[in-house]
Amino acid sequence: MIRPGLGCCRPNELETQVIAVYGTDLIELAPSILSADFAHLADQIGRATAGGGSVIHVDIMDGHFVPNITIGPPVVRSLRKATQVPLDCHLMIENPDQYIPDFADAGANWISVHQEASRHLNRTLHLIKSHQCQAGVVINPATPVETLSEVLEIVDYVLVMSVNPGFGAQEFIPSALHKMRKLAEIRAERGYSYRIEVDGGVALDTVSDVVRAGAEILVAGNAVFGKGDPKTNAAALLDAARSASLIKV
Ligand code: DX5
Ligand code: ZN
Repeated sequence: MIRPGLGCCRPNELETQVIAVYGTDLIELAPSILSADFAHLADQIGRATAGGGSVIHVDIMDGHFVPNITIGPPVVRSLRKATQVPLDCHLMIENPDQYIPDFADAGANWISVHQEASRHLNRTLHLIKSHQCQAGVVINPATPVETLSEVLEIVDYVLVMSVNPGFGAQEFIPSALHKMRKLAEIRAERGYSYRIEVDGGVALDTVSDVVRAGAEILVAGNAVFGKGDPKTNAAALLDAARSASLIKV
């Protein structure tokens, strides 16, 4: 039997169940290039994947849905040539339907859209799937899990924002944890298969909490690319995630 690692308190039954069912083999690190050196993206990605990053998280911002602007399909197309690992495109944009085909064509493997930015969310998720991409839905810190009730059956992953989207290196918002637990609980109850991803403020001091809450795909920007060597940073974070989640008893 396995249970979550040492913490301030004994894990509750649900946490134990989540870890026991999903284990650590399915924990993945998704380095976010938002904090990388954009003049050396291929090298930075290579270092992060050498350290165990198995998905590259790409933050797409339009200056409308969030107060920042980043990159578009041409950069995704170049990234596609620079790495073999899946590209996880997190669309923080208005009117995502208009751009989903372009991102898919550029080489995105996973595409997620915000619940708050999608007027016809069911249609948008099917649009992503129609382009042979994994479809994800994202919720902001102020958005309850309950708003996703009618789409959880069709999504491949749910991304819980643990900061308000728009910028890297922000402080982790602890109220995101109960949403991950809730998503794990709903998945078990209803027999769904989505994975749970967390994004924002994931670092050595928060990673054990998110893993114990049920997160399986860990997005990390500043903790991987902020300072030092991305390979070392990624390896340390992944190690901390895995050792926090598994203590055999
Ligand atoms: C924020 C982005 C995140 C960001 C996370 O809007 O969605 O992916 O890169 O950065 P850190 O890990 O630095 O909080
Ligand atoms: Zn993101």
